[in-house]
Amino acid sequence: MYDKEQTKILQKQTTEWLTSINAINSKEFIPGNIESLRDILRFHENRYYVQTDPLISDYEYDSLYKLLEKFEKEEPSLVTENSPTQRVGKGLVSNFPKVQHLVPMLSLENSYNAADLLDWDRKARELSGLPEIEYCVEPKFDGASISMIYDNNHLNRSATRGDGVVGDEITLNTRQIKSVPLTAKFSEYGIEQIEIRGEVLINKSNFKKYNDKLIEEGIPPFANPRNSAAGSLRIKDTAEVSRRNLEAFLYHVSYISNTDDRQPQTHSAMLDMLWNLGFRSPKKEMVVVKGIDKVIQQVEEFEGRRDELPYEIDGMVVKVNDLQLQDRFGMTSHHPRWAIAFKFKARQATSKLLSVEFQVGRTGAVTPVAKIAAVLVGGVTVTSISIHNEEYIKEKNLMLNDTILIERSGDVIPQIVKSFEELRDGNEKPIQFPTHCPVCGDLLFKPEEEAVWRCININCAAQVVERIIHFVSKDAMDIKSFGEANVRKFYELGLIKDVPGIYELDFEAVGKLDGFGKKSLDNLQAAISNSKMQPLHRLIYGLGIRYVGETTAKTLANFVNHLLEFTNYSEEQLQALEDVGIKVAASIYRFFKDAENLAMLQKLEQLGVSLKNQKKQVAINDLLAGQTFLFTGTLSQLKRTDAETMVEENGGKILGGVSSKLNYLVVGDDAGSKLEKAKKIQTIKIISEEDFIKMLPT
Ligand code: IVH
Repeated sequence: MYDKEQTKILQKQTTEWLTSINAINSKEFIPGNIESLRDILRFHENRYYVQTDPLISDYEYDSLYKLLEKFEKEEPSLVTENSPTQRVGKGLVSNFPKVQHLVPMLSLENSYNAADLLDWDRKARELSGLPEIEYCVEPKFDGASISMIYDNNHLNRSATRGDGVVGDEITLNTRQIKSVPLTAKFSEYGIEQIEIRGEVLINKSNFKKYNDKLIEEGIPPFANPRNSAAGSLRIKDTAEVSRRNLEAFLYHVSYISNTDDRQPQTHSAMLDMLWNLGFRSPKKEMVVVKGIDKVIQQVEEFEGRRDELPYEIDGMVVKVNDLQLQDRFGMTSHHPRWAIAFKFKARQATSKLLSVEFQVGRTGAVTPVAKIAAVLVGGVTVTSISIHNEEYIKEKNLMLNDTILIERSGDVIPQIVKSFEELRDGNEKPIQFPTHCPVCGDLLFKPEEEAVWRCININCAAQVVERIIHFVSKDAMDIKSFGEANVRKFYELGLIKDVPGIYELDFEAVGKLDGFGKKSLDNLQAAISNSKMQPLHRLIYGLGIRYVGETTAKTLANFVNHLLEFTNYSEEQLQALEDVGIKVAASIYRFFKDAENLAMLQKLEQLGVSLKNQKKQVAINDLLAGQTFLFTGTLSQLKRTDAETMVEENGGKILGGVSSKLNYLVVGDDAGSKLEKAKKIQTIKIISEEDFIKMLPT
């Protein structure tokens, strides 16, 4: 619809409008410009809704939209029928059947700070004539919106948002979402037909698992859970949709065919109704408060807890609770007047791609890493981003000097969303891939079916160092105080040459190095020694067997009593395990047939590293059977969740709080009220982390 040249011009004009927005606000309005502003907004609506490839942030779009609204208000005679303020965005392209929503799916007005909310509340109070309004505050789920129609208690049809009027029919796909009931007793509320709105998401841990799997397979991951949820709804293979573990929150009823006094009168009661009928509504996540001050308090509190939630939210939605009042407020052509979104700080930002470094990983894979102009995204300064492989660079059409859009969602590593081709000025240069290993100089190799170039010199210094770094890392053997910097330093000084070398480290020599006092040396020694008893799945993951991520490592660990049992398994037997396909099985098989690998494992065992499945063993001994535990404060050597697993693996139980039923309170640093409470109960034994570790089998 818009060609390259038009895009370039419109984007340039957008920048001009945005940069002069403050000046314009205080300047006299020039009528000639209003149509240009409309063109710009139409263009960005097309980018957002049709191409799903926006060029500006929501905030920037809103500022332009508000400006147009302001102009039109000042001069109502200039409002045209097809102004973006007078309609919902039109014209989606895709190959799903198109269906019309019973009620248009409008978007929400956005707010970004307390002042915006105060302003909105003031207008709402004026409109209602009330001194104070009751609001419902709930998360703004960051996924893909859906609309579902139930007829006579049965899910009849569901659709994507589309352009707001017409969407894609995706009933079969929503039937795969476990939290969407296929039947619900709406008849108990006297409802024959109902249209419900909600958001489909992938929770953070499923998203991470899915992305890890893609990365293990050398496929570039999704930039954020929203993209993968939206993408998953448009897959034609329902079995694959089901495997993606989608979830849905239902938060709005847009249409009910017939009224009945059994039906809810408030939004919060509507959420209760949905919940009672088996839907996942945000009943537990929402709060009802009176007055805007409490709303502001709530949204700020939620923003602080944003990262603790299992799914992504990009803000909060504030809704007038009384449904009759909602009706009285009504809608503009763009959004309801009874609700407003409060957007959290953006986790997207634009930057410049300055250069590309090529890093060699533990499997010899050469990964291009983009060095970018430092930029703050969601509170973290980003200066480099993995750009995965040669194909990815081509797919995203990345060039040196490009302006790029980056995103960091939650605990996910930053990703390049796109490059702005329309902003190129001729100074861009192609990214050249090396032919030789940047570390050892060997010729690089790429099997035809793979996307990744590799250095196949197994003794390449980069690979050895990366293997050790991976082995000691947090998710693997978690040897604290043995971070990346120490591994590199020890390797350079010849103090460590391979993974078993960790357990033969010459502490006397380390003690002579700068920065190693007695305390840090003691910590290092204790951490290395404790790691010998890490659960088997951590060791397996730490070995860095290709395609074996944390999930597969756990499957493998549960399968044997001793790691070396794998030397007896055939590829077919390995394939029978959950999550283990042909490629993964072949890789595991090869690993355990390799003489050097076996020698390394034997050496680790000689040095005291447990190759046993301790869980299976202790289940027989039940060392802590009948004993109850609780952890408080920050532990220094164990992860809290691991420590709890250890208790359970050894037959003990974790309690939820301090009570006379508790046998052991394990106290870490900065322990608080639990410790105080436990001190008052004579029978509770208060022990340190070291004491706890000593209780476990060696
Ligand atoms: S209410 C008529 N509630 O945010 C208004 N929307 O930017 C109905 N969204 O299109 C929407 N969480 O897809 C509502 N708790 C929530 C929401 C929510 C996410 C989405 C929705 C909407 C978009 C607006």
